Amino acid sequence: MSRYIIEGGRPLEGCLRIKAAKNSVLPLLAASILTQEKVTLQNCPQISDIKNMLKILTGIGCVVERDDEGNITIDPKDLYCEQIPCVLAKELRSSVFLMGPMLSRMKKAKISYPGGCEIGMRPIDIHLSGLRELGIVIDEESGYLDCDAAGAHAAQILLDLPSVGATENLMMASVFNKGTTVLRNCAKEPEITDLQNFLNAMGARVSGAGSSMIVIEGVNKLHGVTYRPIPDRIIAGTYIIAAAMCGGNICLEGAIPEHISSLIAKLSKTACKISCKNDKISIRSKGRLKSLERIDTMYYPGFPTDLQTQMMALQTISRGTSVIAENIFETRFKTVPQLIKMGADITVRDRTAVVRGVPRLHGAQVSATDLRGGASLVLAGLAAEGVTEVKDIYHIDRGYEDMAPILSSLGAKISRTV
Ligand code: UD1
Repeated sequence: MSRYIIEGGRPLEGCLRIKAAKNSVLPLLAASILTQEKVTLQNCPQISDIKNMLKILTGIGCVVERDDEGNITIDPKDLYCEQIPCVLAKELRSSVFLMGPMLSRMKKAKISYPGGCEIGMRPIDIHLSGLRELGIVIDEESGYLDCDAAGAHAAQILLDLPSVGATENLMMASVFNKGTTVLRNCAKEPEITDLQNFLNAMGARVSGAGSSMIVIEGVNKLHGVTYRPIPDRIIAGTYIIAAAMCGGNICLEGAIPEHISSLIAKLSKTACKISCKNDKISIRSKGRLKSLERIDTMYYPGFPTDLQTQMMALQTISRGTSVIAENIFETRFKTVPQLIKMGADITVRDRTAVVRGVPRLHGAQVSATDLRGGASLVLAGLAAEGVTEVKDIYHIDRGYEDMAPILSSLGAKISRTV
């Protein structure tokens, strides 16, 4: 099993380029089967969540090509299978997005309950009730969701929660329905707007993404497209927090500063200097920062749950006490015992963590328990005194491409064992 070995205590200096967002590429790949023509997505990272989505697409009949420049081309002309095998669905929660496009294209889909990040119960009830309101018949027997869209129609749907995945799934399930579908209480994340732009570039008629109401006018057909998804705001945020923790001066290129304005607003209160110009973000930090009184995760444009553990790692070595409330997922504090092994002072009660900053962390043997938590352990290791060994890094590989080479290029001492 691969591990990261990190010798901490070095400042970070240099520049890196941000690739396309995993959370955009995954729904866009799913949406690519809405046409019979070829679709190319540019600037995609080599990460295991995307590899698994490509395996699923290949399994249902797509021809997939990938080049060294990060271009992925999907030829979805001859889909022959309406079923997503259990093993693949379990590895990738985002397989649930395929329900909408499969039903739009093939009128049938059979998919097992999806897996994904180990961050607590992740129900799909909002996906299922929305699909049912669109006239789709779903049989939930035998661990599979057996769906039939023969009677699909436009509808007015109010989502119980602004779920990102459910908003995306319902957008993709509605593109061919005659008439106008209206989705209310939608998620407003930038990845939703990216999906709208992608669908419209294929000939769909979707509007309103980025607000809580999305309107989809049914069309008969979509065509192929070459598209560049938005950059990954969570990857950008992770490296910004790394620089804040380690001290130094780094610059991110190919980012969209507005997408992480909640992080930039928070860090600007801690005495690190952040400046943004067009697609560049620069951060300069002198090491030990002031704690943030409160961090509350919230739907976009609030503070993203996907940056919560990385921010917690930063708070462990900041001056003062910080209260972190996780409002989106119930068990997103699984990394706390690992951070405590490294000398952090954290107490958790329900969905709130109190982090009392210590002067420094020390190296230890720790295990990644989920994707973002794993990244936060790498950050903690970079800032700690001594050697940190991070195990189970297959969690990190789901979303972070080339973490060791990128951090090494910024001056960190990190290697990966095979
Ligand atoms: C997406 C992101 C993930 C991010 C999350 C929240 C992708 C591939 N993943 O996940 O990185 O952490 O948004 O920003 O884009 N819920 C229900 N019923 C449902 C669906 C969701 O109760 O049917 C609840 C979830 O349990 C959770 C909340 O809604 O508490 C938000 O989940 P959701 O927005 O759906 O997250 P994902 O789309 O799974």
